[in-house]
Amino acid sequence: MGATGSIGRQAIEIVEAHPNLVLCAAVSGSTPLDDVDAPLKQVGGDPTELLEQAEPDVVLNAIVGFAGIHATLWALEHGVDLALANKESLVAAGELALAAQERGGGRILPVDSEHSALFQCLRDTSPNQVAGLVLTGSGGPFRGRTRDELADVTPEQALAHPTWRMGPKITVDSATLANKGLELIEAHFLFDVAYERIEVVLQPTSIVHALVRFRDGAALAHLGYPDMRVPISYALTYPERAATPLEPLDLTPLTLEFQAPDLETFPLLAFAREAGERGGTYPCVFNAANEVAVAAFLDGRLPFLGIAEVVADALAAAEGAPARDLDDLLEVDRAARALPVA
Ligand SMILES: NC(=O)c1ccc[n+]([C@@H]2O[C@H](COP(=O)([O-])OP(=O)(O)OC[C@H]3O[C@@H](n4cnc5c(N)ncnc54)[C@H](OP(=O)(O)O)[C@@H]3O)[C@@H](O)[C@H]2O)c1
Repeated sequence: MGATGSIGRQAIEIVEAHPNLVLCAAVSGSTPLDDVDAPLKQVGGDPTELLEQAEPDVVLNAIVGFAGIHATLWALEHGVDLALANKESLVAAGELALAAQERGGGRILPVDSEHSALFQCLRDTSPNQVAGLVLTGSGGPFRGRTRDELADVTPEQALAHPTWRMGPKITVDSATLANKGLELIEAHFLFDVAYERIEVVLQPTSIVHALVRFRDGAALAHLGYPDMRVPISYALTYPERAATPLEPLDLTPLTLEFQAPDLETFPLLAFAREAGERGGTYPCVFNAANEVAVAAFLDGRLPFLGIAEVVADALAAAEGAPARDLDDLLEVDRAARALPVA
């Protein structure tokens, strides 16, 4: 799902290189899928029927944004393994998604690099051994800048990520730290860890992807080059951990520096934490407002600092009551998107 995107293309590369993986279906939003070799294809629309026909063993959801909700809920409800890159669906629909998973019995195999790292560090541990989780982030292209220095930044500058090559929406989210906020909520739902036990630290070279702190004082970290083929391959071949063409990590040139994020200059991370802690549909509102604001920024209709303002206004206007079902959630998402952005 999302076959024409940054994750989708890399996933197809992994599938083609592995003798036991077969691409049974592919979906995009509007880009034609002519060069994608799959028996079932769909451009736009709800992919549910296509998924029913394809009968996949694993759904890689690499659609960008809330539009990925249908594929996430379908896989969980049907007990099909969900390789999840589309963090927005789990953020917006956390409780509904976990309820669907409970009914369907499917597994979530995280593709987001930090969550793949946590998933790997958490293997064979019991919840009471875990003291906390640490998500790392590069800090994006504007790390170290003041608010004044961010007033006039352009989409082009925001899209120049220092360490990762990704689609435009997540790249802007990395520049505002909204991405780390989405990841914080994603980690809460994936690993059932309370927000106060999930930290975010910056690690500018993106070599350390995450850490798990244990009750005995030990911390396990996951290291690697910033290359999404590793978590994509891990999720698609789990638990085999198939080989990838990556070079081994060269340790001697590395320096591993960590910094606290600047929440005054990049408030979206703090807003996400608050939305997550408040629960209900606040994370859905956070996500919807952020998507709309990022699109407006990329279109030149909203300044960079306006993204956080739009999200703050949407959260202030929200009631946040939990969604009973997908229709409820779709309505909350729609209402948050309808608020003015400028
Ligand atoms: N890129 C990364 O390195 C990375 C890392 C971690 C997590 N993620 C997550 O993975 C997801 C995808 O990111 P990306 O960077 O690969 O994005 P991207 O390059 O922008 O690709 C997005 C994909 O989603 C498709 N799409 C958009 N709207 C759709 C819709 N309504 N229905 C079906 N498909 C739709 C796009 O199709 P069109 O080509 O037709 O627009 C494209 O195939 C995001 O949730 C992101 O947060 C990405």
